[in-house]
Amino acid sequence: MLSSKIGGIGFYVPEKVVTNHDLAKVMDTSDEWIQERTGIVERRYAERHKETTSTMGAAAAKIAIERAGITAKDVDFIIFATLSPDYYFPGSGVLLQRQMGMNGIGALDIRNQCSGFVYGLSIADQFVKSGMYKNVLLVGAEFHSCGLDFSTRGRNVTVIFGDGAGAVVIQPTEEEGKGILSTHLHADGDGAEKLAYMNPGSHAGVHVGTEKYGYPEQEFGGMFFTPKMFEDEDFFPNMEGQAVFKFAVQKFPEVIMEALESNGYKPSDLDLFVPHQANLRISQFVQARMGIPDDKVWNNIQKYGNTTAASIPIALCEAWEAGKVKEGDLVCLAAFGSGFTWGSALIRW
Ligand code: COA
Repeated sequence: MLSSKIGGIGFYVPEKVVTNHDLAKVMDTSDEWIQERTGIVERRYAERHKETTSTMGAAAAKIAIERAGITAKDVDFIIFATLSPDYYFPGSGVLLQRQMGMNGIGALDIRNQCSGFVYGLSIADQFVKSGMYKNVLLVGAEFHSCGLDFSTRGRNVTVIFGDGAGAVVIQPTEEEGKGILSTHLHADGDGAEKLAYMNPGSHAGVHVGTEKYGYPEQEFGGMFFTPKMFEDEDFFPNMEGQAVFKFAVQKFPEVIMEALESNGYKPSDLDLFVPHQANLRISQFVQARMGIPDDKVWNNIQKYGNTTAASIPIALCEAWEAGKVKEGDLVCLAAFGSGFTWGSALIRW
């Protein structure tokens, strides 16, 4: 039976390095606090007026396409995962398509935040396994730094996130037992507002908590933004950090075990575990809980912060470039994030 595999992988991070000390100059935080709670030392910020989410995605895609041994003209479908797109609409997929001269093929944007890459991988896997497409370009890219609150009020969120992009080309393989073995996707909308960027949106007082924005009464039309949102500067992401942390440390091990057990494996069979880089403490907790040794886990949040949909492909690509992913290795990817959404993928490389 036809399976799908990662045929090429690439990543791009902007040049600008922003350290914890740099952030401490603009808000009340410290290198010690950030490192102790998250493991993050520095992150990258994209260059305003020059880079966008889709240009970073295209930079990563070019590398993935070349490594897959194809050209941009051979790509037959684009999946773009991001929560920080160039425009509210259309999606960043069509902008990447325009930049890369891949006009005419389908371009799908997905909004699954930190689980976006795993969700995208699952979609790409189905398209390739069914024989519908042969070269699906899956991109995860984020330009967080243009949507964060750099005052002390936003410090719990702002210190965590960084910019960057990762990309893979998903291709068919007929090699028995190789490629993407399975993917597992989950969501729980009860946690939707615990990690969210709600404005602008159509919520207009319908969801609990959104009444506070004061929507004017009018028969027709509406407003995504209200004056009160601007007065309160309520257009930044909000996060209940502890609730997110608790949910993550419960769901990560569950979904990793789901991937392993559905293929008849146990944690000790893994050659490499690449967790979504949300917080080094979450990764370490999960690793300890599952008894996975240090040399079988790839973490790079120290250098890049949490790059959401880009974090798994960036980490996987770095691990691959470092020779940590070899032919025949069993690799588990797992992600957790806003929604809440979570998921995993098991790959025989
Ligand atoms: N620098 C300094 N102090 C900070 C701070 C920062 N960047 N952010 C928050 N604080 C302060 C708080 O204001 C609070 O102060 P108070 O005690 O005077 O009220 C104190 O630190 C503790 O805040 P709390 O939110 O309880 O901290 P925490 O131990 O839960 O750590 C997180 C905060 C965000 C690091 C942690 O909750 C976390 O990592 N959660 C998961 C987040 C995540 O992974 N998100 C991405 C999911 S994909």
